[in-house]
Amino acid sequence: MQNIRNFVIIAHIDHGKSTLADRFLELTGTIEKRKMREQFLDSMELERERGITIKMQPVRMNYQLSTINYQLNLIDTPGHVDFAYEVSRALAAVEGAILLVDGTQGVEAQTISVLDMARELKLKIVPVVNKIDLAGARVEKTEEEIQKILNVGTEEILKVSGKTGEGVEELLKEVVERVPAPSGNVESPRRALIFDFDYSAHQGVIAYIRVFDGIFKKGDEVKLVRSGIKFTIQEIGVFKPNRSQAAELQAGEIGYIATNIKNPSEVRVGDTLTSVLNPAPALGGYHEPQSVVWTSVYPLKEDDFSDFKKAILRLHLSDTSFSYEEESSSVLGRGMRLGFLGMLHLEIVLERLEREFGMKVVAASPTVAYEISMKNGETKFIFAPSEFPNDHDILSVKERWADCRLIVPSEYLSPSLKLIQSREGSVLSTDIFGENRILIQAEMPLRELMRDFFDELKSSTSGYASFSYKPGDLREADVARLDILVHGSIVPAFSRVVSRSRIERESKDAVEKLYSILPRELFAMKLQAQSLGRIIASRTLPALKKDVTGYLYGGDRTRKMKLWSKQKKGKKRLKEFGRVQIPHEVFIKMIRRN
Ligand code: GTP
Repeated sequence: MQNIRNFVIIAHIDHGKSTLADRFLELTGTIEKRKMREQFLDSMELERERGITIKMQPVRMNYQLSTINYQLNLIDTPGHVDFAYEVSRALAAVEGAILLVDGTQGVEAQTISVLDMARELKLKIVPVVNKIDLAGARVEKTEEEIQKILNVGTEEILKVSGKTGEGVEELLKEVVERVPAPSGNVESPRRALIFDFDYSAHQGVIAYIRVFDGIFKKGDEVKLVRSGIKFTIQEIGVFKPNRSQAAELQAGEIGYIATNIKNPSEVRVGDTLTSVLNPAPALGGYHEPQSVVWTSVYPLKEDDFSDFKKAILRLHLSDTSFSYEEESSSVLGRGMRLGFLGMLHLEIVLERLEREFGMKVVAASPTVAYEISMKNGETKFIFAPSEFPNDHDILSVKERWADCRLIVPSEYLSPSLKLIQSREGSVLSTDIFGENRILIQAEMPLRELMRDFFDELKSSTSGYASFSYKPGDLREADVARLDILVHGSIVPAFSRVVSRSRIERESKDAVEKLYSILPRELFAMKLQAQSLGRIIASRTLPALKKDVTGYLYGGDRTRKMKLWSKQKKGKKRLKEFGRVQIPHEVFIKMIRRN
């Protein structure tokens, strides 16, 4: 165990985590040179396309330093604020963290938040300035910023280029020197923390584990402490980074077990694995992730519900941070209400549902939760805008706020403050942070945050701002429900809850957006927005013109007239009976940023 080092890399998005991991993989010979490709650990198609890490990926490397063979277990984690929960789980499985800061960007807001989590878990932090090969790197300034958030001398801060490899070997040596070996006892009753999952059709749930005490082997009779489920370990192994069978996993090691459990909902991240005969007490688990935004999702075809549910459960195995609950709507049929950690998270989950499971869905407008006191004395929590009561039945509404941290260059301070104000937020403090940068602490309704706040912040600061937040307390909200009608009937999936001051704007925007994306029918359709008992915006989508006379050329006009009048009659009938079919893409586009 003395020769094991378990660590993660903490970094803001694009600061070079995956690239640095590539160098580690090369340097330790974990991946053969000819098989190496950029950002090796981002194996999901969506990750490679978007250039971001979504899911954590553990890897074991062997590294020799002055005649000692070390086993290094690195867990590559995502950098985006929505995936902080994924990071927090990885942190609980390791003893150390490389704090990687892009020398051309400096310390970002999200880095500070993750660093706070790492310190709470008492991880050893190894601070590093990255991208020193770039002419624009402000190495000294970045060092100063690191010193501001971490009480260290400059001599402790390493400088590397993940791209050229400069300083990377030195960094690996320092990780071995500074990160403590795991503690734990091979002789004690065995126990391991489940920190992530995967699923294989024939092996069932694959649990990612960090062993804290004892030894696990194939064939062991084990159980999950919290859920009480018992099973036999079918296979045990390590990540190279592909799963590779091993004889056993000892205290201090990171690897996986195949459980043969076919029902995904029986296994939970944060549970403790121990033996049936000689059980050990549970390890400290995780905080349950707190969803901040919800949407109801239905299969496009109602008969697909059981496949849809299966897909959700399977997806949940590889991403336990979204919540789900069955739901049924009179109009849309049976579906699931899903809770997410942010809008990017929501987008990614819906996209994975379609790509990995071929599920076409109807997704309702996302919403935060509201606590509503009704005039009849009842109090309820609302997670779907279509359930939001009528204005005249409501006594008061409460919503969750967010505590925010922003870092912006000084020249963008003023637009940033304006933006916060325009989102009903208030600024608590502004402090100078490093060279020409300001750290802003603010609070704002989560509802406003989920409304593309971050995108707008980016565009009003030329991309220089960074941002992180955590859910705060519940406060009074001045909101009302807004419904969208297509051809005279409310489409529940398009309903939303909006600030009263924005009813007019949102109504117009929603109608315009729908106008531009809804395919035309053979009849004209009214698109309307309605709130507080009246129509606020309206537009008519013209009928699709079908040229019924196209095949007639020249000749007698009366024949054309005849066909036109026939078409007119047909259209009238369609208008009366026409039920509008709204395609899957329209639902997805309606909840997306433009
Ligand atoms: P997420 O996984 O999305 O959090 O990003 P990441 O932190 O893994 O960043 P990634 O490794 O994908 O690198 C982001 C970009 O920076 C890529 O275009 C890299 O090629 C580039 N990059 C990373 N390290 C260096 C470096 O040391 N020097 C230079 N010049 N570019 C680098």
